[in-house]
Amino acid sequence: MNLVLFGPPGAGKGTQAKLLTDKRGLPQLSTGDMLRAAVAAGSPLGLRVKSILEKGELVPDELVIDIIGQRYDQPDCAHGAVFDGFPRTIPQAEALDTMLAARGKQIDLVLELKVDDAVLLSRVEARIKAGGVLRSDDTPETLKHRLGVYYKNTAPLLDFYRAQGKLRTLDGMAPVGAVTAAVAVILDGPTAG
Ligand code: AP5
Repeated sequence: MNLVLFGPPGAGKGTQAKLLTDKRGLPQLSTGDMLRAAVAAGSPLGLRVKSILEKGELVPDELVIDIIGQRYDQPDCAHGAVFDGFPRTIPQAEALDTMLAARGKQIDLVLELKVDDAVLLSRVEARIKAGGVLRSDDTPETLKHRLGVYYKNTAPLLDFYRAQGKLRTLDGMAPVGAVTAAVAVILDGPTAG
């Protein structure tokens, strides 16, 4: 099964993707994690994208399409994957469909985690208050910019996947366990969760 976890920054995509990996063995393909790893390693890709991530802008489509294609061809994706933070633009979604079709596969479901902007901001503020290691884009100002980028470039994908009949929307403001249970109901039917 190939799933897309969809939603604005801080909606809980990474949290739910990790739970799907633990419970169902579907690898989490997070372009954000891959890009941050490249920055941390100081690789040519990392040097190219470091300031883009810091500003909360989108990395060029061709770069993320390339890294996701390479990652999907690893053996652990043989039975599918959870796409987390990818696709983020229409060209990325079209490239993903093409890549999967070439392998005889497809996106099966797109799970949208719907969360109000004010709740997203309060999640970042809570993380800042809690201390610890923060991402370079984890400030209220950058989050507001990332939200603007989301509404302009990424939210149009909701219509793209709605038209394909693959979109399911969940209340991402419910507690983590309740979101996980709602995902299970969608994947396994009403007796799950
Ligand atoms: P990326 O790493 O994908 O960041 P993001 O989408 O902005 O999302 P986050 O990781 O901040 O949030 P999340 O939805 O995963 O939520 P999480 O589970 O962490 O991208 C970073 C950057 O990389 C982009 O800005 C861009 O520059 C670049 N990039 C990445 N992919 C790209 C692409 N495809 N194309 C171009 N550029 C790309 O949860 C957030 C917080 O909320 C946590 O503290 C968590 O504990 C808490 N939480 C989670 N669920 C709940 C809940 N139900 N109730 C209460 N709290 C909750």
